[in-house]
Amino acid sequence: MNTYSPIGMLDSGAGGLSVLREAVSLLPHESFLFYGDQGNAPYGTKSKQEVLALVRRAVGRLMDADVKAIVLACNTATAEAALELRQELSLPVIGMEPALKPASMCYHGGTILVLATPGTLSSAKYAALSSHWGEHAVSVPCPGLMEFVERGELDSPALSAYLERLLAPYRSEQVDAAVLGCTHYVFLKRQISRFFPQGTPVLDGNAGTVRQLKRVLGERGLLNPGPEKGKVLIESSGNAENLRVLEKLFRQNLAMQ
Ligand code: DGL
Repeated sequence: MNTYSPIGMLDSGAGGLSVLREAVSLLPHESFLFYGDQGNAPYGTKSKQEVLALVRRAVGRLMDADVKAIVLACNTATAEAALELRQELSLPVIGMEPALKPASMCYHGGTILVLATPGTLSSAKYAALSSHWGEHAVSVPCPGLMEFVERGELDSPALSAYLERLLAPYRSEQVDAAVLGCTHYVFLKRQISRFFPQGTPVLDGNAGTVRQLKRVLGERGLLNPGPEKGKVLIESSGNAENLRVLEKLFRQNLAMQ
């Protein structure tokens, strides 16, 4: 492993591509190996022990490719496995958490909605975060929402109906900010924002995670000096159709930049 080695990034599926997008733009000389564990998705409705075992397995695959750092581009994987991985591995492990801290700065007497997986919201890690920044936060678990993104279904009547059921109860409330606490939901930001008055901040943790990645690589002397542009490789534990969705979303995603 050296400064030219790729950075390993993983998620249960397509959500992590929203992090990869930011990473490619902030770190253009770095190469990335993205692993979508679609064969074992979703993570967010599994137990801590199940998620930990799956993440260890995915990390094993990335380490076989001699990556120089691991990015858990998944709030659920971070909540359930980051602590253990940091104890077990000598290479940097960068994780992410719901953007509750920046959201709490938007508080104006209303509520802060935190949309995330049941696993993230019931984790000890989230309880600790929430005890600092979550005084006005309301948890909104979204089982089944990541599956829309996995199917590449970013605009459909079924998705609108799902979001309507989920968010209609908050229409009559003052929502000061909403947090997208799952990387999949970043692909649905426009559809979710529609439920709140124009200008309501809808926040995610992607940019902060990628800045942290850059900082850690710099501190460890692991930044790729360039000058070549890095490469991106995408793998999936799922089937050919799963991989096709990943590659398509990644291309669309880059085009959106
Ligand atoms: N993308 C993941 C997250 O950020 C989890 C989705 C899932 O597998 O349930 O939490």
